[in-house]
Amino acid sequence: MPAGDSFYITTPIYYPSDVPHIGHGYTSVAVDTLARWHRQAGDDTWMLTGTDEHGQKMLRAAAANDVTPQQWVDKLVSESWFPLLETLDVANDDFIRTTQERHEKNVQVFFQRLYDAGYIYAGEYEALYCVGCEEFKPESEIVDGTGPFEGLKVCAIHSKPLELLQEKNYFFKLSEFQDRLLELYKNEPDFVRPHSARNEVVSFVSQGLKDLSISRSTFDWGIPLPWDESHVIYVWVDALLNYATAVGYGSDDENFQRRWPAYHVVGKDILRFHAVIWPALLMAAGVEVPKGVFAHGWLLVGGEKMSKSKLTGIAPTEITDVFGSDAYRFYFLSAIAFGQDGSFSWEDLSARYQAELANGFGNLASRTVAMIEKYFEGVVPEPAAYTEQDLAIQKIVADAATAADAAIESFRIDEAISSIWTIVDALNGYITENEPWALARDEQQRGRLGTVLYTCAEGLRALSVLLSPVMPQSTSKLWSALGATETLGALQEQPIREAGTWGALRPGTTVHALAPLFPRVESQP
Ligand code: ME8
Ligand code: MG
Repeated sequence: MPAGDSFYITTPIYYPSDVPHIGHGYTSVAVDTLARWHRQAGDDTWMLTGTDEHGQKMLRAAAANDVTPQQWVDKLVSESWFPLLETLDVANDDFIRTTQERHEKNVQVFFQRLYDAGYIYAGEYEALYCVGCEEFKPESEIVDGTGPFEGLKVCAIHSKPLELLQEKNYFFKLSEFQDRLLELYKNEPDFVRPHSARNEVVSFVSQGLKDLSISRSTFDWGIPLPWDESHVIYVWVDALLNYATAVGYGSDDENFQRRWPAYHVVGKDILRFHAVIWPALLMAAGVEVPKGVFAHGWLLVGGEKMSKSKLTGIAPTEITDVFGSDAYRFYFLSAIAFGQDGSFSWEDLSARYQAELANGFGNLASRTVAMIEKYFEGVVPEPAAYTEQDLAIQKIVADAATAADAAIESFRIDEAISSIWTIVDALNGYITENEPWALARDEQQRGRLGTVLYTCAEGLRALSVLLSPVMPQSTSKLWSALGATETLGALQEQPIREAGTWGALRPGTTVHALAPLFPRVESQP
């Protein structure tokens, strides 16, 4: 995309009924990496995350803890959800909470418009509801209970009994949007990605859509409908609106024009809400649909979707306390094809940490800086004539930078990292072949030694820039060690789409000692 374009990207807003686990962390670091990349490319970037605080799930969690729902969410958000962003080094631009006035007020504005436009009607409703999903369940997701729930209908996802609800509800005429949605998926083949997710959505919508219940009247923890205060707005449609209210829908037209429409990154569990209901609501309100919805896969633990409700949740700090936040980010973003499921295991994490980060990238950085200190008194040497071998490295760097940018453009963070990693592997091979320690013993080879070490240092300069969205901490340390801050400015200011242009690091720059970027890990849980 041309630099300067608006790039507005969101995570789902998470339910703070409980503490975060590595699945939430996965989505957040992915979105943060995409946002950091675009920000560093000079795009007009905005990253939003937040919390989804209404609904019955929250009401019950609060009741179980003997506090009001507001007290419960305030506690969880400040003690667990804000700190998650620090733990994982997420540089979000905004954090929306659905209990904020800026949200509640403008959700009412939105629904009043839908009501006035004739898209909402009142009706009787009787259906099975899952509080875990906060959703009326379709036939296909209802199964017979076992064990303590023998004889009951349970949710296929949560394995917990469904509740029969019979009440007066307001409905949104979702069924009227089937054709327009199918047309959208056809005209914008990238509206839903990856393509497997798109196919699933197309086949779901092709089967026809039912109108959607958008209000509840048996409890009051939610946003009242403006025309009938005895109802609160259904938690899911309240939640979807966050993406619009956070950037000024209903209150700040100028900012809304600047940011909207957004890209949404979500887990595949909530794809239909984002790819079907959300664009239909926007169409009804006469607002542009999102630029796209990307559904990533699930983190599996022991072969099952990791989840708090099934007690397989792992807290992000369990990983970052041992390996650090850069390793967390790198591991999940590189080891799992973005869009597919991936299995988490401590063994795999440890093995990749050791092989790719400590021995691969970290060691390349340490020995390059150490050799410049040892053989050139800490000053980056001037390269002499380049040989074909050196030019090959330059081409690998240029190609990797181009390929990584293209991969990020299509949300394939894993592919971007593997392109960038060709530089790490090539430079490690280059050092082995050129044996700078042997060149250093021969005064005749002083020029060659300078070229070899300049090539390594300049390759590391490119690596710092290209990896900074993924691993902001270690790349900052490396950037300082290369002495680049003094001559080139702050790492985050380096234009990422020019990272592959050879020769930016200035000969004569003084390097600084570098402690191991990925120290040996002694223990693991
Ligand atoms: O659904 N693997 O909130 P939520 C990968 N409030 N990602 C996972 C995961 C796993 N095992 N478990 C959770 C909600 N996630 C609503 C969203 S948006 C308008 C409202 C991530 O707290 C993934 O992004 O249940 C998933 O979509 C999200 O957390 C669900 O978070
Ligand atoms: Mg969930």
